[in-house]
Amino acid sequence: MGCRIAGCAKELPDLTVTNDDMSRIVDTSDEWIVKRTGIHERHIAVGETCTDMASAAITKALANAGIQHEEVDLLVCMTITPDTIIPSQACLIRARAGLSNAVAFDLNAACTGCIYGLEVATSMMESSMAQGSSEQKNPIRHAVIVGVERLSRIIDWTDRASCVLFGDGAGAVVLEWDEKAKGILSSFLKNTDDLDMLLSCDQHYDLSTFPFGDAQVETGSSIMWQGPNASHLDPERSTCGSIGMEGQQVFKWASSAMAEAAEEACKRGGISLEDVDVIIPHQANERIIRFAAKKLKVPMERFQVSIGSVGNTSASSVLMALTDAYDAGRVNPGDKVLLVGFGGGLTSGAMLLEA
Ligand code: COA
Repeated sequence: MGCRIAGCAKELPDLTVTNDDMSRIVDTSDEWIVKRTGIHERHIAVGETCTDMASAAITKALANAGIQHEEVDLLVCMTITPDTIIPSQACLIRARAGLSNAVAFDLNAACTGCIYGLEVATSMMESSMAQGSSEQKNPIRHAVIVGVERLSRIIDWTDRASCVLFGDGAGAVVLEWDEKAKGILSSFLKNTDDLDMLLSCDQHYDLSTFPFGDAQVETGSSIMWQGPNASHLDPERSTCGSIGMEGQQVFKWASSAMAEAAEEACKRGGISLEDVDVIIPHQANERIIRFAAKKLKVPMERFQVSIGSVGNTSASSVLMALTDAYDAGRVNPGDKVLLVGFGGGLTSGAMLLEA
């Protein structure tokens, strides 16, 4: 209630890498990649940082919305590949983009980041603008939600099963408080423990100066392996610092998680899937979207499919696809738009809104 999308935009790095380019790096082919994923090319950040891409996307989104940088009260940045841990990615972007009045922080919900970020931002906006709250809380009239990834930094470029899937980029959306807007109609968020590490990327801690005990190197999953679920995990599968993935199992889970989230958000919003004008799913694999569409009995034409030119851009994916849908004239005032995400964690979710 009360929030409306005022503008959105995306930013892609300059370098385009085609499937033929990929076939010069690993044993693959354009035919295999297109048939199994729908991906034709992706963009890779060579010189661009997350700060560069996100700031550019935000500047374009604010211009589309007709809102000044200093009017932004909140910046939520969703990423799994921040330029630095401290300051947070959001703090770096705030400084670069000149969002001088925004409170800023990061949120990691992997590829479902957009849904979680929108939930947090709209909830903060609604509670701060509720009658009588503006003196107790930071009033949030304008919020920017940005997803940005430089996944090329955490890809194992020798693993053909995963390196062909991902790309870099940023997507941003500007939300404006508007008493009369219906805005967010419903949402659905879900977590499922990923005890088998179907999707993982290890954090690496160098403990060479750690003065207690004899640990030299520790990783996120080595911490997990000492825990109660140790029997589920195989230390040999840790590819430290790069994305590890059990493709087929992720595929199976993703198609049903996507269908479940879409159905639940519609149920909570009191509308039928048939009444949704456009569905903007996470762009992980065109075949996942097709499977979910079949399960939901919704024609593919109602889905925004953008993966062909960008690959899977994780937290940026849904916001970049939303921008494509707006640019293509697929989203008009009053339309019902369903955003759906799924990814590492395992996380999944959907948000139904009125444009
Ligand atoms: N090029 C050519 N062959 C490849 C390949 C590539 N890039 N990647 C894998 N293969 C091969 C495999 O080695 C295997 O060969 P084999 O039969 O000789 O053993 C064969 O293709 C089939 O592999 P499989 O894993 O069954 O393929 P798939 O149809 O499941 O497609 C993915 C693989 C990764 C595209 C698919 O499982 C997928 O998209 N999973 C979800 C991934 C995802 O979305 N992750 C992020 C979620 S947010």
